Order: sequence, then structure tokens, then C-alpha cells
Amino acid sequence: MAYLIDGKKISQEIKDELKEKTAEYEKKGTNVTLAVIQVGEDPASSVYVRNKKNACAYIGIHSLAYELPQETTQEELLDLIHQLNSREDVNGILCQLPLPKHIDEKEIIHAIAPAKDVDGFHPQSAGALMIGENGFLPCTPAGIIQLLKRSDIKIEGKHCVVIGRSNIVGKPMAMLMLRENATVTVAHSKTENLKEICRQADILIAAIGKPKYITDEYVKEGAVVIDVGIHRMEGKKLCGDVDFEKVEPHVSAITPVPGGVGPMTIAMLMSNCVNSVDL
Ligand code: GUN
Repeated sequence: MAYLIDGKKISQEIKDELKEKTAEYEKKGTNVTLAVIQVGEDPASSVYVRNKKNACAYIGIHSLAYELPQETTQEELLDLIHQLNSREDVNGILCQLPLPKHIDEKEIIHAIAPAKDVDGFHPQSAGALMIGENGFLPCTPAGIIQLLKRSDIKIEGKHCVVIGRSNIVGKPMAMLMLRENATVTVAHSKTENLKEICRQADILIAAIGKPKYITDEYVKEGAVVIDVGIHRMEGKKLCGDVDFEKVEPHVSAITPVPGGVGPMTIAMLMSNCVNSVDL
């Protein structure tokens, strides 16, 4: 039986640590404040935003909610971001993605001051990660590193295969694993011999976006498998990019969906907010 990497438990530990840290700050008269912006009413985004606000409330982070109408213009959104950039009482700014089609997402991401970029999406944050300087880390990859470390899974020297090359998960994940001294392969939709490459992984990180794509044929006996995907099946059940039932009997450790990587993303967002106070 594989060891189940419990993201719910580990994210709770992190949130409790952050709660203590925030209480210490409060005693010294320092508040932590996160501005959360949502444009429009995408149902999935609304759930994420609500979860983020609830996590803030639990930890003792003040959240400022900006729920803007779908018709908000690029200029209006940029104006708000510029205002929040210049407010000393705001530590972090999060603009929930995706944005409506008429808004240039790239320009918005670039507009957020790197010192308040708690999502870690700004090119300066991405560049800092690339060259090993201090900057905010993207939350999902940073959460995966915490899952591995807090489960006592050795990263150094191991062959890690990351499937996916997005700016939000795949690319920063590869950089973080490299920083932890893993040997890293990045595979993607155009990779030839994907199965053979995945079978060489000591640590396999699946961020493909296809339900149950990774079967037992893709894993080495005893590997560690991290599943970044989340999909709603017919009948409403959630599943990941990994076919859990087929893979679990062959591996040494695996994350479930739900309750694996998902809760870690919010915990690391909270960590970025609290740590931003000392920057
Ligand atoms: N949309 C989906 N995931 C994320 C995230 O981590 N941050 C933001 N801002 N938007 C998202």
C-alpha cells in the first residue's frame, strides 16, 4: 500500500503556523492585508476566491474584497491595481484568473508590484526563481515542495519528471525541483515516448490537464506520484490527472484528489502574504 500524502493535514499545519505568526505580528501592531480582486462571476473562480477569503479569516489576515462587474475595463482594473500598489496598508494583491476576454491578462499580471505579487506570476518573480534570488514563489509548485519535505521524501539526487510546462505550474515546478538538487525532466504534450520517460521518474509530477491520463504503465515500481490535476467526472466525483486506482498499488507514495495538492495552493498563498510583511 502506498503512503497517502495528506495535503489537507499538511496545509492545516501550515495554516496553524501562519496563524501563530500573524498573532505575533498583531501584538507588535502589524497587520497583514491581502487584496483579492475578482472580475465577473465565473463559478469556479467564485469558489476559489471564497476559499481564499476564508483562509485569510482563519489565519488572521485582513482581506479586502474587490468584486468587479464583468464589464470592467482594462483601465479601471489597472487603476485599482495602481491604487493598491501604492497603499502601504496592503501587503499582497491577488487578481483571480481567468479574466474576461476583453482584458489583457498579461498587462494586469505585469501591473502588480513585484513586492505585492503573492501569486508569484510577475516576470520579476519568475526571473528571481530562475536565478535563485528571493521572490514570491508560485503557490502550487511551492506547495508541492512542502508536501514532499513534510512527508520526509528525499528530493536531492532523485530523477523528477514534470509533465506540463505552464508558467503557473510546470515551469516553476521544474525550477524548484532543480533548486532542491533533483535531476529534472520536463515532458509535455509533444514529448515522444512519454511512457518510457515517466517510467524513469523517482518523483512523477502530473500537471497535464487530462483526467486519469497517468495509468500504471507510466510509473516505476516504488515511485512517488504527485497529482496536480482536478477534474469533475460525471456524477460529480472529483479525479486527478492520475488514475489513482491503477497507480496506487505500484508506488511508494501518492497524493489523493481531492485532498492532495489542492489545499496546499491556498496555504502557500497565505504563506506568501504573511512572509511579505518581512520583505
Ligand atoms: N486561477 C486558477 N488558479 C489561480 C491562482 O493560483 N491564482 C490566481 N490569481 N488565479 C488562479
